[in-house]
Amino acid sequence: MKNHLLIFLSLITLVACQPKDPTEQKIDHLLSQMTLEEKIAQMSQLAGEQYPEDLETYVRNGLGSMLNVMGEDANYYQRIAVEESRLGIPILFARDVIHGYRTIYPIPLGQAATFDLDLVKEAARLTAQEAMQAGIRWTFSPMVDISRDPRWGRVAEGYGEDTYLTSVMGAATVQGYQGSDSIIQLAACVKHFVGYGASEGGRDYNTTWIPEVQLRETYLPPFKASLDAGSLSIMCSFNEINGVPTSANKHLNVNLLRHEWQYDGVLVSDYASSQNMIAHGNCKDLREATLLSINAQMDMDMENHAYFKHLKELVEEGLVREEQLDVCVRDILRMKFRLGLFDNPYCAVENPVYYSSEALAAAQRAAEESAVLLKNNGILPLSSSPHHLTTVLICGPLANSQNDQNGTWCFDKVDSATVTPLMAFRELAKQGKICVIEQTGKHWSREESQTNIMQLTRLAKQADVVLYFGGEESILSGEARCRAHLDLPGDQSAQIRALKATGKPVVLTVMAGRPLCIGEDIERVDAVLYAFHGGTMQGPALANLITGVVAPSGRLPITFPQAVGQIPMYYNKKNSGRPTSNPVLYEDIPVGAAQFSIGADSYWLEYGDKPLYPFGYGLTYTTFEYGPVTVSDSILVSSSSCLIASCEITNTGTTDGVAVPQLYIRDLVGSITRPIRELKGFQRVNIPAGESRVVSFVLTEADLAYWHLAEGVDLGADGHYTYLAEAGDFHVWIAPHSAEGHPAQFTLKK
Ligand code: BGC
Repeated sequence: MKNHLLIFLSLITLVACQPKDPTEQKIDHLLSQMTLEEKIAQMSQLAGEQYPEDLETYVRNGLGSMLNVMGEDANYYQRIAVEESRLGIPILFARDVIHGYRTIYPIPLGQAATFDLDLVKEAARLTAQEAMQAGIRWTFSPMVDISRDPRWGRVAEGYGEDTYLTSVMGAATVQGYQGSDSIIQLAACVKHFVGYGASEGGRDYNTTWIPEVQLRETYLPPFKASLDAGSLSIMCSFNEINGVPTSANKHLNVNLLRHEWQYDGVLVSDYASSQNMIAHGNCKDLREATLLSINAQMDMDMENHAYFKHLKELVEEGLVREEQLDVCVRDILRMKFRLGLFDNPYCAVENPVYYSSEALAAAQRAAEESAVLLKNNGILPLSSSPHHLTTVLICGPLANSQNDQNGTWCFDKVDSATVTPLMAFRELAKQGKICVIEQTGKHWSREESQTNIMQLTRLAKQADVVLYFGGEESILSGEARCRAHLDLPGDQSAQIRALKATGKPVVLTVMAGRPLCIGEDIERVDAVLYAFHGGTMQGPALANLITGVVAPSGRLPITFPQAVGQIPMYYNKKNSGRPTSNPVLYEDIPVGAAQFSIGADSYWLEYGDKPLYPFGYGLTYTTFEYGPVTVSDSILVSSSSCLIASCEITNTGTTDGVAVPQLYIRDLVGSITRPIRELKGFQRVNIPAGESRVVSFVLTEADLAYWHLAEGVDLGADGHYTYLAEAGDFHVWIAPHSAEGHPAQFTLKK
């Protein structure tokens, strides 16, 4: 006993004698001088568009952060903060720089379709370079909300339906923004914590119900991956989850984020999300919302005015301890030190470089790689020779809309710098490579007009090929842009029907913020490129793809349902008890169940159980043949070994191309049932025509693990979840998409 006491005391002495981190010492020093009011100001962010009249007084009193203040304005307020506030703590300027600052890259959903992590990281690096010139040091990106509901407008802002893909995309984006130097460039803010993409009915700001095992398995890993990649901050979401709004959710914000994950970055509310708690019915007024938020360790209050209005009285009444505020202020100051703000508070506003050739080249490559070829009856790539120049009709509402092709959330772009498909094809015509006729004028996708159709048909008759650029305008996706119909809005389907009736081949390019249920339109046309909203250089990118200067290499990051009634639809679902397309895997099926076939499953009478296009799908101008999957061993011995799964891929066509082999696994039997497939890896492999490449993936026990509720514990109890793999049989695929391929089998022994 005495010995134990001695060991304990020496441990305490050891910890106490450890020299304190110099940054923490600086924070201690600042904190010790701060008044209660200064702490509250430091914990508040005000938005540029909602300034209080006496904003300068707020700054002089130690305001922590400002949203949407840039350039010379930012320097103006920064000077007041640094030189006129009592402690000279610099302000942190924030803005939503979501997929580019001036140079716009594809919307995140489009970036996910590239399956190219280096490119996504590079786009974020170049974005940070541009944004920092305007004094922005904090962006509210990446959004890693998993969404399996394309009605939800914000599906455009995330990386799709899959947890693994979203995790690696989120981490790459964080690394791109923040860089690898000790002084961080642009602070990332991973959002929205958590479950926002599961909003009921795809309605924004709506209720979510997510059991803890599903939360841990599906929704939390992308957040963990982004925090592990170093994200300096994280933002709450607007939804309530299991009855508690996230801004007040102690289980998520304290138990999980701070204790289990040991996160020491900044947790910021979403825009007025504390106020939203009143509407959710979780508290009666802003004072109560303030109390709940601070008790859930919300470090910074974004444009709620809640902390400003009520935190002081709550401390004075003894309902909140001042030490609770210290913890939050410490996080905020730590972030400011990590950004080097105390040494370099100002931005250099002179001669900023925007739209550099490097940024434009990366934006073009990203737009090229994000387009997914869904259908091609051989019309693409267009052939044109000096002897016979192909005449194309360029038409459709998105053929020449400099604003719309950039998509949602890009406040700082300059429309005139955006190159549309029409502009790119005109340039090709100038170079004598193609003949262009065009339908001029602005044609909103929501417009219905008979004259438009008559004009279109007349023009189509003069062309060899019709290039129709349709889809959704930018305002149809993003925050609060949910749709109940997922068709081509307005007159577009009628226009496509009329164009097809001319007998001319029609190539449909869809520029949109979400998957659309456009099976009938697709049936009518000869080729379909699904290009999402691709940003500044989408025009030249599409011209290159259509004329074959580059081949499409994008793959779908989200399942495309045939009809809205199939939603939610995603590839890594579980089998129903009577599956039609995912066979029961073991022989000894009870009598009766074995006989179930089409007609007995939980399928839709109109559509069967298949999507329009599965996750991971995408064609190119060549074809690939995937050989059988082999595994280096049929048995994986727990933790002590790994398996190598391999497969030979042959380019069986006549042009070079990029294959995107995807590694999927299935745990055949789980104490908590497992999805029919789970993505665990992917590669982009360039394979010259006629050649083969062997691709290999390493699998370890960690790849097979999933979340369990610790035995004997009630669902929902904190801290009683374990992440482990169960012994048994597994399937492994290396396949071109989530609905193809033959698996190999192996066994995990423990
Ligand atoms: C959005 C966030 C965004 C914030 C600040 C909110 O409405 O949900 O994603 O970062 O506004 O503009």
